[in-house]
Amino acid sequence: MKKVLLVNGSPHKEGCVYTALSEVADSLGKNGIETQIYHIGVKPVHGCIACGKCAELGKCVFKDDVCNELLGLMQQADGIVIGSPVYYAGPNGSLCALLDRIFYSANGKLSNKPAAAVVSCRRGGASAAFDRLNKYFTISHMPIVSSQYWNSVHGLTPEDVKKDLEGLQTMRTLGNNMAWLINSIDKANLNVPEKEEWIPTHFIR
Ligand SMILES: Cc1cc2nc3c(=O)[nH]c(=O)nc-3n(C[C@H](O)[C@H](O)[C@H](O)COP(=O)(O)O)c2cc1C
Repeated sequence: MKKVLLVNGSPHKEGCVYTALSEVADSLGKNGIETQIYHIGVKPVHGCIACGKCAELGKCVFKDDVCNELLGLMQQADGIVIGSPVYYAGPNGSLCALLDRIFYSANGKLSNKPAAAVVSCRRGGASAAFDRLNKYFTISHMPIVSSQYWNSVHGLTPEDVKKDLEGLQTMRTLGNNMAWLINSIDKANLNVPEKEEWIPTHFIR
């Protein structure tokens, strides 16, 4: 059975982001896809210290937060949805700190997995936060799954989100589209494209 990991990047375990992710998960489930909603929690997380050790270890050097556990779950999943509350028109800082380290450590291991971002805001900044999260996928060879609108819901509380009928519909559509892509990839069973050797040219050259 195919599985999608949905990451709740809010400090609230069952808040607005969770409500949006649950709607995506329900529609994935209706399409025969197993789901897991993973809450990043509220414990402190490290930012990336750019030590480069992950290139040797295949994981982050810090062991006292959820980074490596989450990286392992993401590697095992067939699809990934990352949800965040909007904080000052961007994703939650703790979530970004984790994602910086996860994607830097992953070093190609998340390539070709369908992915999508979901954001929740009270009023504004949703599309800026959404864009920021999509940057992790587009630098990592991950096909982005789209919906009928940019993936956002509005609310301060889960009850607000439940009233955002278009937002919830966008979440259901996202779940259907992600299931379709995962199943299509599975059925086609094509080889993934060969990667060229990286040609690193920095702006100074
Ligand atoms: C530090 C902080 C910054 C926030 N910044 C924004 C913002 O820029 N725009 C907005 O509409 N809501 C903002 N909010 C509200 C949350 O994004 C919104 O309530 C969200 O739906 C909460 O999701 P949750 O219940 O899953 O945590 C902010 C909340 C906090 C705590």
